[in-house]
Amino acid sequence: MAELRSRRSNLAVPGSNPRFLEKAKGLPADQVFLDLEDACAPLAKPGARKNIVAALNEGGWGEKIRTVRVNDWTTEWTYSDVIEVVGGAGANLDCLMLPKVVDAAQVQALDLLLTQVEKATGLPVGRIGIEAQIENAQGLINVNAIAFASPRIETIIFGPADFMASINMKSLVVGALHPDYAGDPFHYILMQILMAARARGVQAIDGPFLQVRDVDAFREVAQRSAVLGFDGKWVLHPGQIDAANEIYAPSQADYDHAELILDAYQWSTSEAGGAKGSAMLGDEMIDEASAKMALVIAGKGRAAGLQRTSTFTPPE
Ligand code: GLV
Ligand code: MG
Repeated sequence: MAELRSRRSNLAVPGSNPRFLEKAKGLPADQVFLDLEDACAPLAKPGARKNIVAALNEGGWGEKIRTVRVNDWTTEWTYSDVIEVVGGAGANLDCLMLPKVVDAAQVQALDLLLTQVEKATGLPVGRIGIEAQIENAQGLINVNAIAFASPRIETIIFGPADFMASINMKSLVVGALHPDYAGDPFHYILMQILMAARARGVQAIDGPFLQVRDVDAFREVAQRSAVLGFDGKWVLHPGQIDAANEIYAPSQADYDHAELILDAYQWSTSEAGGAKGSAMLGDEMIDEASAKMALVIAGKGRAAGLQRTSTFTPPE
């Protein structure tokens, strides 16, 4: 996990809107996904493919991960989405996002098609990743197989809007808790997705929250998946980006602490430190498992560009 690029904020950008495509380039999101699916009306999809190819090839995306969401395999659009976008801008694209995935075969079908387009256009085979969206009951019961379906898989994403519709979940605001329910109705779904992603060693991403002007409510909803260990969340509006970048990165104090644990553990297990399997860091006992936990936090902090503000000094 420490090696993966940060995806704290994943900005949705409708491919049908050239103005939004241009504006997205300057926003501080870790990832953008240029959408050919639900944010594009059917009649606008052919034009959106062209806008997306042009926007990717023009550049100016900085360090952002550039993803395009194609339409799902039950439509008549997926193959043209892939051929046009990857054929036209494959060198300037990091991932394709596949929505409404129901089984491993759908991921494999995309992998095969991508491979053909890469070969036909002289691109390196296998560089472009796949992000799989889990948006219905079928997808969730097959999520483990989906996570392992292709070496291209980079993220497993929860799509709450389609998911809530698919299982008939009562809702007032998509992505938010219903006031009649005391618990977190998404906990089970989020945990299943997280387990599949972690077993496969890829990122788990939370989906959109549609009350885009209520940033406090966004924070509350985001915390729910962030505490479980999710790596990031979709943002639909520039106002949600800073909140996501903050919530899915460790705090400065947690990051510093994690780096200290790693140093202290390395020292205490070394010859100079007495080759001990466990040690004290202040009042805290640390061992191999603490170091593993610390590595996750340190990895997320480093990926998010945090800098250490403390140094480890071995005890006398
Ligand atoms: C996203 O695609 C969702 O359905 O929530
Ligand atoms: Mg959806």
